[in-house]
Amino acid sequence: MPYIKIPKGWEIPENQVTPESDYINRRTFIKKMGIASIGGLSLIGTTACAKGKGVEGQLEAFRAQPLAATHNSQFTVTRQMTDEVVAATYNNFYEFTMAKDRVWKLVEQFETRPWEIEISGLVDKPMTLDVDELIKQMPLEERIYRFRCVETWAMVVPWIGFPMKALLEKVQPKSSAKYVQMVTFMNPDVAPHQNNSRLPWPYFEGLTLAEAMNDLTLLVVGIYGHILPPQHGAPIRLIVPWKYGFKSIKSIVSIELTDRKPRNFWNVLLPREYGFEANVNPNVSHPRWSQATERMIGSGDRHPTVIYNGYADAVAHLYQ
Ligand code: MTE
Repeated sequence: MPYIKIPKGWEIPENQVTPESDYINRRTFIKKMGIASIGGLSLIGTTACAKGKGVEGQLEAFRAQPLAATHNSQFTVTRQMTDEVVAATYNNFYEFTMAKDRVWKLVEQFETRPWEIEISGLVDKPMTLDVDELIKQMPLEERIYRFRCVETWAMVVPWIGFPMKALLEKVQPKSSAKYVQMVTFMNPDVAPHQNNSRLPWPYFEGLTLAEAMNDLTLLVVGIYGHILPPQHGAPIRLIVPWKYGFKSIKSIVSIELTDRKPRNFWNVLLPREYGFEANVNPNVSHPRWSQATERMIGSGDRHPTVIYNGYADAVAHLYQ
């Protein structure tokens, strides 16, 4: 991203990276314990109670709010999974700060429940839903996806969510709907960087309807077996794993179907550097850096970037 400096030498040792097999075994164990699903829990959705206890204390509060979801083994990957603490302490959430390693702390006062999400525009059945009501109605799946930021860092994490398609089918898009526009919350009192009026807040993003209806496109409400901590975009965010990470908008409050191509936050800010499509592509450099390789957060390992981030089979047909 433009004026965001990736802290040099900020690497987490290799021994903090969890192999996928260990993680899956832990999840099986959690399921065997019969831990309650969302229906039986009163979700706190805030880390205020764990304030000052460090990131481990914060994550403990979220591990105490597990989400039951079917693990979808179709989406496992060959790379090592990123350690939970690594992923939770290296975030882009510019509403709070541009310093990746400080987001987890600054979100401590961010209340993510109760939370409503509005689905409107060119649909037959517009609706506004409480996020936990929505979660109860949706078939939750766990999918391990590769995730690639335009800044060249990458991770592999287990998201919990439901296909965006399932929600769109509920609201029944009209035949004139061609695009989906999503918007993040606006509250400068808790998100201090939203006071910076040089940036076009609130954050907004868009997809074509065909991209939104693709099987890979997930609305995410959990990670690592539990509800989403705020730094990852609680209580509900998008994940489009074949696109650069800035497309995966966090903390969504509205989804609108339209017939006009929406703008997106980074495109409005720096149109010559960030487009609408933003598909991961090793052959198209960012104007200021190469996209040929990527760096795994945590291990620091470098790998060649893969076209569509490795998901060409599922999405290449959309761009022919
Ligand atoms: N959504 C909002 N609302 N605000 C943001 O700053 N950053 C984007 C995306 N979604 C961002 C956002 C970028 S640039 C990235 S790489 C991912 O979130 C980071 O997701 P993570 O912090 O869960 O890894």
